[in-house]
Amino acid sequence: MEENRIEIDRDLCNGCGLCAIVCPTGTISLRGEKATASGGESIFCGHCEAVCPQEAIRVHEIDEEMSQYKTFTTEKQWLPPGNYNTSLLVQLMASRRSCRHFTDQPVERALLEDLMKIGITAPSGTNSQAWTFTILPQRKAVQAFAKHVASFFERLNATAEKTLLRMFLKLIGKGELDAYYRGYYRKVKEALEEWHESGKDRLFHGSTAVILVGSKPGASSPAEDALLATQNILLAAHSMGLGSCLIGYAVAAMKKDPSVQRSIGIPADEEIHAVVALGYSDEVYQRIAGRKKVTPRYFEG
Ligand SMILES: Cc1cc2nc3c(=O)[nH]c(=O)nc-3n(C[C@H](O)[C@H](O)[C@H](O)COP(=O)(O)O)c2cc1C
Repeated sequence: MEENRIEIDRDLCNGCGLCAIVCPTGTISLRGEKATASGGESIFCGHCEAVCPQEAIRVHEIDEEMSQYKTFTTEKQWLPPGNYNTSLLVQLMASRRSCRHFTDQPVERALLEDLMKIGITAPSGTNSQAWTFTILPQRKAVQAFAKHVASFFERLNATAEKTLLRMFLKLIGKGELDAYYRGYYRKVKEALEEWHESGKDRLFHGSTAVILVGSKPGASSPAEDALLATQNILLAAHSMGLGSCLIGYAVAAMKKDPSVQRSIGIPADEEIHAVVALGYSDEVYQRIAGRKKVTPRYFEG
C-alpha cells in the first residue's frame, strides 16, 4: 500500500540512504542497495522526497498545487538554516499589529487562497494536516456572519443579566457566567448598542474578508496545528499588504453555540480555533512597540 503512495524510481536511486536517515517513521530502508518503502507507517511528510539528490522519490499524498501561489513567485530551493535575513524576519513579525480599522477595499480571492497555502506550510502533529479553512471573501459574508455572532452575544448578555442565576451557578462551582459578566458583559453591551444604532462594527472592525481556521476530527493536536497555521497567515498577510486581526469573540460564540458555526456552512464535526479578520488596513504606525517583560526559567540539569 505505502509502496504505491511513496514511489521510488529504482533506476534513479543511487542507494545513498539519505531518505532512510531522515524518515521519522522507519518507513524507508535500503534493500539491495536501493531505497524501499515498506516498514513502519508513513506519515507522508515528504522528507524523503526533499532529501533525495537523485529526485527518485515521489510521495503521492503531497499535492503540488498546494505550493503553487497565484500572487507571488517563490523558489522551490530549500534554504539551509542560517540562510535567511533574521533582522528582516523579526522586523516583519514585530510590525504585524492587530488591525482594527479596515478600508472598504475587498481582498482578492487569489490572495486569500495564497494565505491558506502559506498557512499549511506550518508543522502539524504527526503530520496530520487535518486543518480546515473557511473563507468569507467579501464584506457581505462577514456581515452575515457578524449577525449570528452578535445574536449569540445578545442571548448571552440577557442570561448574564440574571443575578440570581449567576450567583446560583457560581455557588455550584460554575463561575463562568459570573466571570463573563464581570469581564465582558458591559463592553459587549456597548458594542451591540453601537452596532444597532450606527452600524459600527466593533466585532470584525469593518474587515472585508475572514478566514476561519479549524480542524477535522481525529487530529492528534488540532488546536496547535490550526494556531500555527494561523500565525503563518497573520505574518504573510502583513508581508502582502493586508491588515489582520484575530477575533476571539467569534471563536467563543462558535464553541458555545453550534448554530453559529452552522450558519456559515461549517460541518458540526469540525472545530474552529481561530477567526482571522482580513482587509486593507487604514492604520499607520510610526514605530514598533515592545512587549511586557518576560524572563526565561533555566533548568541546567
Ligand atoms: C486568541 C486571541 C483572540 C483575540 N481576539 C480579539 C478580538 O476578538 N478582537 C480584537 O480586536 N482583538 C483580538 N485579539 C487581538 C489582541 O488584542 C492583540 O493580539 C493584542 O492586543 C496584541 O496586539 P498586536 O496583535 O497588535 O501585537 C485577539 C488575540 C488573540 C491572540
